[in-house]
Amino acid sequence: MSEPKKLFIKTYGCQMNVYDSERMSEALGGQGYVETKTPDDADMILLNTCHIREKAAEKVYSELGRFKGLKAEKPDLKIGVAGCVAQAEGEEIMRRQPLVDLVVGPQSYHRLPEMEAKTRAGEKALGTDFPEEDKFEKLKNRPKAKRGPTAFLTVQEGCDKFCAFCVVPYTRGAEVSRPADRIIREAHDLVERGVREITLLGQNVNAYHGAGPDGDMTLAGLIWELNKVDGLERIRFTTSHPNDMADDLIEAHGTCDKLMPYLHLPVQSGSDRILKRMNRSHTAESYLRLIERIRAARPDIVMSGDFIVGFPEETEEDFQATMDLVEEVKYGYAYSFKYSTRPGTPAAERAQVDPAAADDRLQRLQALITRHQREIQDGMVGRTVRVLFEKPGRLPGQMVGKSEYLHSVHVKGPEIAVGDLKEVRITESGANSLAGELL
Ligand code: 5AD
Ligand code: SF4
Repeated sequence: MSEPKKLFIKTYGCQMNVYDSERMSEALGGQGYVETKTPDDADMILLNTCHIREKAAEKVYSELGRFKGLKAEKPDLKIGVAGCVAQAEGEEIMRRQPLVDLVVGPQSYHRLPEMEAKTRAGEKALGTDFPEEDKFEKLKNRPKAKRGPTAFLTVQEGCDKFCAFCVVPYTRGAEVSRPADRIIREAHDLVERGVREITLLGQNVNAYHGAGPDGDMTLAGLIWELNKVDGLERIRFTTSHPNDMADDLIEAHGTCDKLMPYLHLPVQSGSDRILKRMNRSHTAESYLRLIERIRAARPDIVMSGDFIVGFPEETEEDFQATMDLVEEVKYGYAYSFKYSTRPGTPAAERAQVDPAAADDRLQRLQALITRHQREIQDGMVGRTVRVLFEKPGRLPGQMVGKSEYLHSVHVKGPEIAVGDLKEVRITESGANSLAGELL
């Protein structure tokens, strides 16, 4: 029997890329590959790239340049670029960097085995079209390996919203939902392999409308179906758009026992003028009323969000409106970014904000968010939460897991096993995590 070939995958960006990398690894497993942790002994290197941050393509080219020596030593080494930079740049990557053998966009991963074979035959392989089929169904080639207690499951991809700053509608394409039965089957499979918590992924996950037994199913409908899966204990989903927060989904937050009380609902800005320029089609006020309704359904829910500061034409007054909104919502977590231009998006053409002003705003926003984050985390002390244990902690006999609110919790308890779900009383709030004791 021949030695297995080695595959090194480097993953950038969002959870969807993490999920995609796992699927690509499984697909190439069928071609005799096993994963390796270093590029040095690899027979194939795949960079699963992200295009959301600035100069993403340039960073990929410089990363690729570093493999020159390796390829010279080992002419059989194949180098591939996957993900959103692959989709955005296409064939240009092979023109600019002749080391690259394979370029595959997110909608073509099911073609990887065939593309890999092509590279072995000494040809270049390019796959960046947007086919109509379910790539994950075609990628099914899954060894029944045991898994950790948490997993991602992609239910929807692409986005039709066209926020003026964002590349996703161009790199991931139009919104496509996977049929419900395939998702439920995948969830059963994950649970059989040890998974107890599933995070449903989609660029605009709450726009989910996959085919179900009686016509299209909503995300809430899908969550209720998953709620019936024995052995699955927790359901989460990310990322949502305020305009797709349907009534049945809000209600599910109050009534569906496996749906966790945590919601990532990006607003991006608190200024209506900027929201309009961002093409967000909601206002600060409509967002705040939405959160009121969500909190009425589930009063203890922890909110999380994304913000962009320094969007073109943002004034100090616009920024203040963002600070006011943050003050009102009080996020348990929030991610804030300085606007950076993405060529080809509408905002790229507009008057840019002075970078120093944007830096200063980012710092002020992050300070406010951090303060709220701390207050909410500190407020957990004395409360009892349920923790799903994921791994051993740094101290001997210590285990770490996540509460229903997604806080990391450290507990001393040599008897605790990975995958256990236990009641914990929170005793301390540290820099980035909580500590507690088993009840
Ligand atoms: N500049 C800065 N931040 C951006 N995001 C998306 N595009 C840009 C951009 N051009 C942020 C948004 C989004 C998150 C994933 O990344 O806040 O919600
Ligand atoms: Fe990008 Fe999200 Fe807007 Fe879609 S909804 S365009 S993914 S920021």
